Amino acid sequence: MKVTVVGAGNVGATCADVLAYREIANEVVLVDIKEGFAEGKALDIWQKAPINLYDTRTVGVTNDYSKTAGSDVVVITSGLPRKPGMTRDDLISTNAGIVQSVTENIVKHSPDAIIIVVSNPLDVMTYAAHITSKLPRTRVMGMAGILDTARYRAFLAEALNVSPKDIQAVLMGGHGDTMVPLPRYTTVGGIPVTELIGEEELNAIVERTKNGGGELVKLMGTSAWYAPGSAAAQMVEAIVRDQRRVFPVCVKLEGEYGIDGVYLGVPVILGKNGIEKIIELQLNEDEKQLLETSRGHVKEVMEALDNINAAKA
Ligand code: NAI
Ligand code: 2OP
Repeated sequence: MKVTVVGAGNVGATCADVLAYREIANEVVLVDIKEGFAEGKALDIWQKAPINLYDTRTVGVTNDYSKTAGSDVVVITSGLPRKPGMTRDDLISTNAGIVQSVTENIVKHSPDAIIIVVSNPLDVMTYAAHITSKLPRTRVMGMAGILDTARYRAFLAEALNVSPKDIQAVLMGGHGDTMVPLPRYTTVGGIPVTELIGEEELNAIVERTKNGGGELVKLMGTSAWYAPGSAAAQMVEAIVRDQRRVFPVCVKLEGEYGIDGVYLGVPVILGKNGIEKIIELQLNEDEKQLLETSRGHVKEVMEALDNINAAKA
């Protein structure tokens, strides 16, 4: 299997590293626009192979998409990261231009690839990649839900002093402050989380999760990369190994949850064809209201992108 990662920055290089050392692909091509940057990162990962004992070949290129030809999966991480004081939505104009031009190059050289978008604002960049690629919605998706759920699970594991491995959870909606964690669908070793933690503490964890990205931006002056890079690699693994994993993934909704034409995180089955199935949960009235707020927010940013594209046309 051949996987391309576009953007050799913090998230892209981390994703390529995980793909290599876990031997998820035979070949990983790292692409960046900065001269020599992807070549250097890929060479460093390749030189780690004899130490960590893997044989995935990692290759870096500067904006040369011919080297990406025939990729099975492409991860797009190119774009600006968030800086303190910025929302994810502030990145829209710059990152949309980058994601759209990268997607054109990808589909030209790998028309059968499955595309995983990571660049922010995530839901709207998934929209940008999807309309540019003209691929079916099952083959163009966004990574955010695995990361947001991981943050929620990590905070819960800490509060309950249990292994994060035993916490199962699902989270829906856009990748932003309007994301929708679902405590009703959260279990700890099969036990409903509400039996193990008080409402107030659980609400505080939900709030911390919603601000999880911003918390790291404040600490580091840029956004996170270890968990985001690993989350994107986990999606690649589910696809190339046809694992049929159940993950929250950003996809265009076409009537599911009563929503049409908006890109939102929902639980899906991920396998060799990309999104094999969208799972529709029976939400209660409060959860439906939260999802509606999230839908409204993402729709607004999608319209902002439409206006930017119309002004350019
Ligand atoms: P970074 O600045 O470390 O890396 C971005 C890389 O993209 C840079 O090396 C840059 O040279 C490259 N790039 C820019 N334009 C390019 C182009 N046209 N072609 C190829 N490469 C190009 O940023 P980082 O931290 O890796 O973040 C990348 C993106 O991922 C940001 O938009 C960030 O907001 C987003 N992100 C999304 C997350 C999610 O959950 N969906 C989580 C974390 C970050
Ligand atoms: C994150 O959640 C900023 O989207 C990025 O870490």
